[in-house]
Amino acid sequence: MNTDELKSVATTLVSKGKGILAADESSGTIKKRFDSINLESTEENRRSYRELLFTTQGAEEFISGVILFDETLRQKSKDGIPLAEVLAKKGIIPGIKVDKGAKELASFPGEKITEGLDGLRERLSEYRDLGARFTKWRAVITIGAGLPSQFCIDANSHALARYAALCHEAGLVPIVEPEVLMDGDHTIERCEEVTTATLKSLFSELKNHKVALEGILLKPNMVLSGKDCPAQAGVSEIAEATIRCFRQTVPEEMPGIVFLSGGQSPQEATEHLNAMNALGSHPWELSFSYGRALQEPVLKAWMGQAENVTKAQETFYHRAECNGAARHGNYSPDMERSPPKWLVNQLLRNYPLIIVVKHMFLNSGVDASPP
Ligand code: 13P
Repeated sequence: MNTDELKSVATTLVSKGKGILAADESSGTIKKRFDSINLESTEENRRSYRELLFTTQGAEEFISGVILFDETLRQKSKDGIPLAEVLAKKGIIPGIKVDKGAKELASFPGEKITEGLDGLRERLSEYRDLGARFTKWRAVITIGAGLPSQFCIDANSHALARYAALCHEAGLVPIVEPEVLMDGDHTIERCEEVTTATLKSLFSELKNHKVALEGILLKPNMVLSGKDCPAQAGVSEIAEATIRCFRQTVPEEMPGIVFLSGGQSPQEATEHLNAMNALGSHPWELSFSYGRALQEPVLKAWMGQAENVTKAQETFYHRAECNGAARHGNYSPDMERSPPKWLVNQLLRNYPLIIVVKHMFLNSGVDASPP
């Protein structure tokens, strides 16, 4: 294990103004996403969609890394270049989801345990050869009547720590993702309680497994009211509760926290991240590793049609730009309306042409000035 390399990858992933795109939807999940735009989930459609995201001009200004699914790491662009290489050429670090999904936890109805440790050492070595430099493992914790059990929290923390130790052995930065789901009618206070218990258990297991925290990233949920809770917490309450919870549980050696969006709307996810960064300086970088919050509007703009690719890429660039601003606490909802930076860049690129056209009109005596 080369600790300096691990540290360098982890800190690069949380560079100022940048975050991660989670594009690692498993075959079942991407099918659900494509169903929402009435598109069949064929291998070619999945490949084209991921290529659309990865080749977005300028995305590297705000995107430091992309988490891929196994299939995508083995796919090539239409020009025959491996998609991981397409990303690396833009200075974006390719990563890979390595867990095999959350399954029912035997003897604990309503709770889940993430599988995928068997054969993981061998898979990690192959993934590194294919160009991945970081990984992700997602554990799921459910809040409900009498849930979660401490047993479920600890079993998932144990698996996360075993995974993290194996990643370090393979020279890969593990993203550890214990997601406390926002499904249910629980209060924000209950979410804070469960998130605190989950993170305490996780960092205790990481310590037991001798995992160097400087070489990992944490991907947690924000502390939020349950989706069906009648009293929904506001932006500042969410930001304060989340920071309070993390200050009590997350060691300072951790280079960064990269939040999941977990069912928040794209704008909410950006506003919450922005509010946390605006609260001042924190011991760790506070960044994003969003799936749905970066991709939902892109899928809607694309609709699976080749003629919509440019519009979809512009939408992706704009969402990434908003979250890039939220990394500095500089996001404002006005950004949702103002012309995105890609448009300004495009105009600037064409500026010399605009000047020439204007001069031609002036010389011909036609008034080209704005009304
Ligand atoms: P969401 O941002 O859609 O929650 O996805 C993030 C992720 O990678 C879940 O594992």
